[in-house]
Amino acid sequence: MRSHYCGDVTEDLIDQEVTVCGWVHHRRDHGGVIFIDLRDRAGVLQIVIDPDTPAAFALAERARSEYVLLARAKVRHRPAGTINPNLGTGKVEALVRELEILNTANTPPFQLDDPNVQEETRLRYRYMDLRTTRMRDNMLLRAKVARYFRRFLDDAGFLDIETPVLTKATPEGARDYLVPSRVHNGKFFALPQSPQLFKQLLMVAGFDRYYQIVRCFRDEDLRADRQPEFTQLDIEMSFVDEQAVTALMERMIRELFKEVQGVDLPNPFPRITYAEAMHRFGSDRPDMRNPLELVELADVMRDIEFKVFAAAANNPNCRIAALKAPGGNALSRSQIDAYTEFVGIYGAKGLAYIKVNDAAAGRDGLQSPILKFLPDNVVEAIMTRTGAVTGDLIFFGADETRVVNAALGALRDKVAADLGLVANAWRPIWVVDFPMFDWDADSKRWVALHHPFTAPHEDADAVVANPGAALSRAYDMVLNGSEIGGGSIRIHHQHMQSKVFGLLGIGEEEAREKFGFLLDALQFGAPPHGGIAFGLDRLVMLMSGERSIREVIAFPKTQTASCPLTAAPTPVGELQMRELGIRLRRAEGAPPAQS
Ligand code: AMO
Ligand code: AMP
Repeated sequence: MRSHYCGDVTEDLIDQEVTVCGWVHHRRDHGGVIFIDLRDRAGVLQIVIDPDTPAAFALAERARSEYVLLARAKVRHRPAGTINPNLGTGKVEALVRELEILNTANTPPFQLDDPNVQEETRLRYRYMDLRTTRMRDNMLLRAKVARYFRRFLDDAGFLDIETPVLTKATPEGARDYLVPSRVHNGKFFALPQSPQLFKQLLMVAGFDRYYQIVRCFRDEDLRADRQPEFTQLDIEMSFVDEQAVTALMERMIRELFKEVQGVDLPNPFPRITYAEAMHRFGSDRPDMRNPLELVELADVMRDIEFKVFAAAANNPNCRIAALKAPGGNALSRSQIDAYTEFVGIYGAKGLAYIKVNDAAAGRDGLQSPILKFLPDNVVEAIMTRTGAVTGDLIFFGADETRVVNAALGALRDKVAADLGLVANAWRPIWVVDFPMFDWDADSKRWVALHHPFTAPHEDADAVVANPGAALSRAYDMVLNGSEIGGGSIRIHHQHMQSKVFGLLGIGEEEAREKFGFLLDALQFGAPPHGGIAFGLDRLVMLMSGERSIREVIAFPKTQTASCPLTAAPTPVGELQMRELGIRLRRAEGAPPAQS
């Protein structure tokens, strides 16, 4: 129907007739002449309807917000003084010769340019919400990023191969979404948490380089950067080591930012080990825009009077560290209390601090409830290691290492944000050499830090002898404090894979039942291989400057994993349940069934 998108009508088309289609963005009746801002995916064009064209004028009088119009109109310069420099089409307008109302619209549930609409309402009428400039831009950016990745990977010889959605559980650390089988009553498919095992099988099959932009499903606690279904750019390569994978992936991301964002990322990306990341930042996804670092103090605290600190300093499972807040001396008592409450979320039992009133005055220049417990040499060590100067404040955390890391790691981000210390920049970093296993104190067993198919640096005997010390060949790409991608070199020998399952408490029988197909495949000529998966939603969120991945997903779920638009999930009828061989243990609103 159209000759041009509204947003593409510029001075190049002066005196030409165009046919545009779109939605009524604004309509202004200037007594005699009607102006309509007509909007489509490309932008907004001002069309002018004059009473000299009576048929068009009568229709324009009826047009309301979000009506769908078609206009045949002649492009002309806007009169001087009415030029709108904020609009791509701001120097022109189009004088309408013929108008059609293609459809009417009910009064919109919210003003499209109102920034304060409830998210629930936005999601319920998502097709309206997606008409806003913000959401339109986010969707266009997402499509552009996906297109870029496809082109890059096609050019680099990767094959786009699809993998099943109805499948068997792949462990990525979350709960599975299950789909009951009608044909096999009592049996269930699991939706993939990732295509991990299938992409490994594609390497065994010899495809050498695979990619897929693929939906993954994880039933986990949702956050701003987590959705129950999300999209990965999933990649796997054969005959590679970590250097080959990370170098190519780094180039892909660098060229993406150059092309789409016009930004030069560092070359190469810095690389730190997991141990160093935890030590310096208390986090395995440190925000490198933040200049603050944790400082170790255990060695000087072992003999001090303050029991909380001394105990932590003497316990190998504990850590005592300091975090300097530059200029933090100005914090009020209630602000410090608020930080204490904040670290409490992460399990910290307190948040000791020292205010530096005058760094030149020794102890007398410091102010702190714990100062009396700290001998001179300890005070000196604190001052030199943190580099604190007059006007600063130093926080302390002493507890189990994981608590101190979680608490001070989060505090580091919060303090830097509050004090305006976060650089306005892109700071990617690789985090490498993760531990293979983490000890789960609750279930008293080792759990995989990445997934159980990640290869260790050590040989099988060394891993079995000391699982806690084994390092994996895993790598995460972190951008501005967000884990945007993660991957590893995989285990490609059946013997090693069985050993790792064993360490994870997966017995031989269970391993056969759950992963027999993988263990078999590893015995039919599995090549050395490795790969990575990027969180496409997270990446686009960062690039668009949004704070939640829901803003870059066309139809996302709420924080409580439901869809206000379709009202999914919904109950299903008795017949369908019967076919699936399923009976609810407890009907909605009814008391628990007798068993
Ligand atoms: P991983 O579990 O680290 O690795 O996932 C890869 C990337 O996916 C993103 N991501 C998510 N994004 C939105 N919502 C979620 N719930 C969510 N969970 C993860 C993150 C993460 O970095 N199979 C392995 C990859 C591999 O080893 O090749 C995997 O899935 O950005
Ligand atoms: P208390 O002796 O309990 O009054 O604590 C003295 C100071 O130490 C207070 O500022 C507490 O917030 C702080 N504190 C207590 N426990 C810890 C801990 N585990 N780590 C850091 N600071 C703590």
